[in-house]
Amino acid sequence: MLIKIPVSGECREAEVTPEAVYLNRRRLLQGTLLSVAAAGVSPFARSAERYEGVDPAPAPAWFTEKLAETRWQAVVAQGEAITPFSDATHYNNFYEFGPNKGDPARHASALKIEPWTVIVDGEVDKPGRYFLEDLFPPNRLEERIYRLRCVEAWSMVIPWLGFPLADLIRQLQPRSSARYIRFETAYRPEEMRGTRSGFALIDWPYVEGLRMDEAMHPLTLLAVGMYGRVLPNQNGAPLRLVVPWKYGFKSIKSIVRISFVRDQPATTWQTMAPREYGFYANVNPQVSHPRWSQARERRLPGSLFKPNLRDTLLFNGYAEQVAGLYGAMDLGKDY
Ligand code: MTE
Repeated sequence: MLIKIPVSGECREAEVTPEAVYLNRRRLLQGTLLSVAAAGVSPFARSAERYEGVDPAPAPAWFTEKLAETRWQAVVAQGEAITPFSDATHYNNFYEFGPNKGDPARHASALKIEPWTVIVDGEVDKPGRYFLEDLFPPNRLEERIYRLRCVEAWSMVIPWLGFPLADLIRQLQPRSSARYIRFETAYRPEEMRGTRSGFALIDWPYVEGLRMDEAMHPLTLLAVGMYGRVLPNQNGAPLRLVVPWKYGFKSIKSIVRISFVRDQPATTWQTMAPREYGFYANVNPQVSHPRWSQARERRLPGSLFKPNLRDTLLFNGYAEQVAGLYGAMDLGKDY
């Protein structure tokens, strides 16, 4: 994976307001907004700046309906500044659209996301091919503000919108023989120009997997939106996984297949370079990547002269919640 320096910007968690809330409040506050902003205390005006220059993706009807019932800030990241929307949507890894950080923002709009179906198969009582909107558990959407730590040693803080994977799994009724869950990304060469490149080393489709207890963990999220909006294509629309205590490559995008399996699935990065990328991929400052240290990370946004470096936390700061999953394991061996 490549490492590049992002452009700068700043935004604090307290300044983040979901766009829907922001728009409603803005209607109410229109008369006073400017004077409050001028006093430097309005979170709303700063939100507007954050979205500036970034076209909103049109939201499908199912999303708009669900959004109205969202449980905002169901999980927060205490003391963390949220990454500006423009950075989160223009500094991406989505190799199906190219190897450079700007490629997904440039090319992912070619992916047709409506209608979207997901195949559910394997060791499960309710297999089938589901339209995305029929797959959702009846839950309200939750906003969850999570740290995202890439194995390349950069990180962001993202307000996702989604629902716990565990709720979907319960609905699909896996059998006791299902010990792992395997996810597959869409593979559509006509729409995904990165998959047509002769230089791409990836054996498509992109595949990821979790052990069943990891998949059932309450922090594991299936995201359909971020920043109060529908998920942009470059961030994995219309359905992506978010596993905040693992390196970002586990958080597979644009999922078209969910399989309940007996054996540990062969996953994309682990298969390609097993000495560099493990199946577990738990964030761990003590286990270096063979080519670089994982002890520190570059929090976006930053700049060449102010790279915004900070110490990386074990399990990306979620050790209290997830360390118990790995009690008997040697994290240096099962990286
Ligand atoms: N999923 C697919 N299908 N293809 C990819 O290239 N890249 C992964 C992950 N999911 C990737 C993917 C990596 S390496 C990271 S760090 C995160 O997506 C980046 O998510 P973001 O671009 O939304 O920040």
